[in-house]
Amino acid sequence: MKKVYLETFGCQMNVSDSERVATILEADGFEITPFEDSAEIILLNTCSVREKAEHKLYTRIGQIRKSKQNKSAMVGVLGCVAQLEGETLFNKSEGIDFILGTKAVGRIARAIENSKVGQKQFVDLGEREENYDWFVSEHQRHSPFISFVPIIEGCNKFCTYCIVPFSRGREKSLPASSIIKEILKLRQEGVKEVHLIGQNVNSYRPPTDSRLEDFKGATPFSRLLRAVAATGIERIKFATSFPRDFHTDIVDAINEFENLCNWVHLPVQSGSDKILKTMRRGHTVDNYLKRIDKIRSSPRQISLSTDIIVGFPGETDADFRETLKLAEYCRFDSAYLFKYSPRPGTPAFAMPDDVSAEEKTARFLELEKVLRHSQFNSLQNELNKSLEVLAEGFSSKSKEFLTGHSKCHKIVNFEAGESFLGQIVNVQITECKTNTLFGKIM
Ligand code: SAH
Ligand code: SF4
Ligand code: F3S
Repeated sequence: MKKVYLETFGCQMNVSDSERVATILEADGFEITPFEDSAEIILLNTCSVREKAEHKLYTRIGQIRKSKQNKSAMVGVLGCVAQLEGETLFNKSEGIDFILGTKAVGRIARAIENSKVGQKQFVDLGEREENYDWFVSEHQRHSPFISFVPIIEGCNKFCTYCIVPFSRGREKSLPASSIIKEILKLRQEGVKEVHLIGQNVNSYRPPTDSRLEDFKGATPFSRLLRAVAATGIERIKFATSFPRDFHTDIVDAINEFENLCNWVHLPVQSGSDKILKTMRRGHTVDNYLKRIDKIRSSPRQISLSTDIIVGFPGETDADFRETLKLAEYCRFDSAYLFKYSPRPGTPAFAMPDDVSAEEKTARFLELEKVLRHSQFNSLQNELNKSLEVLAEGFSSKSKEFLTGHSKCHKIVNFEAGESFLGQIVNVQITECKTNTLFGKIM
């Protein structure tokens, strides 16, 4: 039985693809191993969203080829870098045996069969099979209790800085009937939480709506949310939401269904209308804030997270101050902050990258302070309250502590034994640190 080691970079879509790759290979008689040294096949599922992410691939291939154990292993590159670079990767980095694009993951076994270490290189950047299967076997999921369920692939938005529409292709929504079927099955298997995933989940537009007709909602996505809630699965989270397509009916659905978790990830990217326009985000500060007001008005205390880029071409100090102002207004419960990184192939690559590296760092640090402050406040607000936490695993620090997320997607550590794993427990919050809450089972 050939042993395969699979390493995943990037977003949840890549994690989900890797789960599928592992499922297919296992069914084909391969063994998936967590030990790189013993593997005969090494697969790197790559991300290319920022330059740093792409460099990781070259570093990893260098390490693999230098290591004594893996010198003769077969190396396959999957994911977004594979899709974008195609065969040019063979010249950029020695030691790659095959390249498999983002839509070709279902043909992983054929790729392995068609390449030979150091002799025959193979590339497949083709389209998905007509009727592909999203099936992930139970023990290839990243968690026994949580499952990622892709509902829409690709992206049509073409924000000027972003490579994703090129690496993932056009938006394609999965049929509601198969999504619901899958979730009912997961529920039977004992999965407690599903994450509906996609680059822009709320742009969901399935080919046929019939499965959704029984559910109300202003958009197919809010109908899907209600249909998924009706499956009775204990918890539903979804990400990422695209501000322009964020209908406030999503908040109404969260208010109606207890199992729709009170967390929304809504990347704003900038607080300046001028920059939002050159980013081609399709939303203004004003209409973003209207959505935030609706989210904040929910009686369920919906937590709110975002992504922000600093140092986009043309961003002046005044533009940046507007981003600071927006962050202060929104009081995000958490945020991912990035320095702009020019990506070849995107429209913004042709714009002068005119904010100096020092200035990007200075803005990053200044904004980070504001974001940290609101994040800490948000955690402090939970002190002495009780949160429902899914016990997902052992804390990295101590075997006596379990860790998991609340419904509002905050990380909570609490003292408890193995027998609680996979259960949703009430935890009384007693302490908070920078990113994490601590508490006791009630
Ligand atoms: N579909 C999601 C996120 C896609 S990528 C959305 O529309 O929000 C995840 C995050 O990476 C983005 O939200 C953005 O903040 C960041 N990002 C994408 N391209 C980038 C670039 N060229 N430089 C810096 N950050 C970037
Ligand atoms: Fe990229 Fe914009 Fe699509 Fe998000 S919506 S993946 S940022 S192009
Ligand atoms: Fe990265 Fe591709 Fe996801 S570029 S963020 S792995 S869609």
